[in-house]
Amino acid sequence: MRLSGRVAIVTGGARHIGAAYARKLAEEGAAVVIADILDGETVADEIRAAGGRALALKIDVSDEADTGRMALETVKAFGRIDILVNNAAIFINIQRHPFYEISAEEWDRVSAVNIKGPFLCAKAVFPQMKEQKSGKIINISSSTAYWGTPNFLHYVASKAALIGMTRSLAREVGEFNICVNAIAPGLVEHEGQNAPKVLTELQLKERSIKRLQTPEDLLGVLTYLASSDSDFVTGQTMVIDGGSILY
Ligand SMILES: NC(=O)c1ccc[n+]([C@@H]2O[C@H](COP(=O)([O-])OP(=O)(O)OC[C@H]3O[C@@H](n4cnc5c(N)ncnc54)[C@H](O)[C@@H]3O)[C@@H](O)[C@H]2O)c1
Repeated sequence: MRLSGRVAIVTGGARHIGAAYARKLAEEGAAVVIADILDGETVADEIRAAGGRALALKIDVSDEADTGRMALETVKAFGRIDILVNNAAIFINIQRHPFYEISAEEWDRVSAVNIKGPFLCAKAVFPQMKEQKSGKIINISSSTAYWGTPNFLHYVASKAALIGMTRSLAREVGEFNICVNAIAPGLVEHEGQNAPKVLTELQLKERSIKRLQTPEDLLGVLTYLASSDSDFVTGQTMVIDGGSILY
């Protein structure tokens, strides 16, 4: 149990990779708040049934009133905020088009959730982390920001933005002992994954480790970045993709 006594918020934790993050942080001893536009009660129930502490909140990360409520309710329920996993994003439901077919409205919606969302969540938890003089903010980017997947410009731009935000925010909050890092996963298989088959095949071909990636492949690095093992690591983006992007 490397996170005993810690309190974590996982945005977009109601399903798929976010749910795996929430379960893992709970397994390591953290109380977990699942903040999602979807109902996170099933995941929260699972965590409680396994003896952990969890709370599900209906939150739209692109709405500042909601992200403020997320921080308040977390402190009310569990007394502190140690870890924020900025995982919520428009991903599974996104339309893949050539860039000239992406409407301005679609671009704005992806940016509002995938870029403004992590910003608002960081802003909401910062006063509590500052007061505690400690905190871990983990932004979920994507290897696509390095790879430059075509027909996905709105999404790729949003995940590249998180790498810059991770660096810039790390410098702003380091003096308060708050670490800001990012995880950039490769294509991860789960029951909701609907990426074109050709993309899965291409990723497999380019990977050093020749197998499909699962949410579990991300959990070791997540725990490392959430725990005190990484207390002197900040501003970094860790690409976890079985050795496809090498830098
Ligand atoms: N699956 C992959 O191949 C892959 C690869 C690299 C990065 N990622 C990133 O990992 C994260 C999780 O991806 P996933 O595959 O589980 O996709 P997903 O679409 O199932 O997960 C996104 C979660 O965010 C929630 N969400 C969406 N809009 C929200 C909003 N406005 N407010 C609050 N919650 C909102 C969704 O309800 C969902 O639970 C995303 O940030 C995604 O960009 C995924």
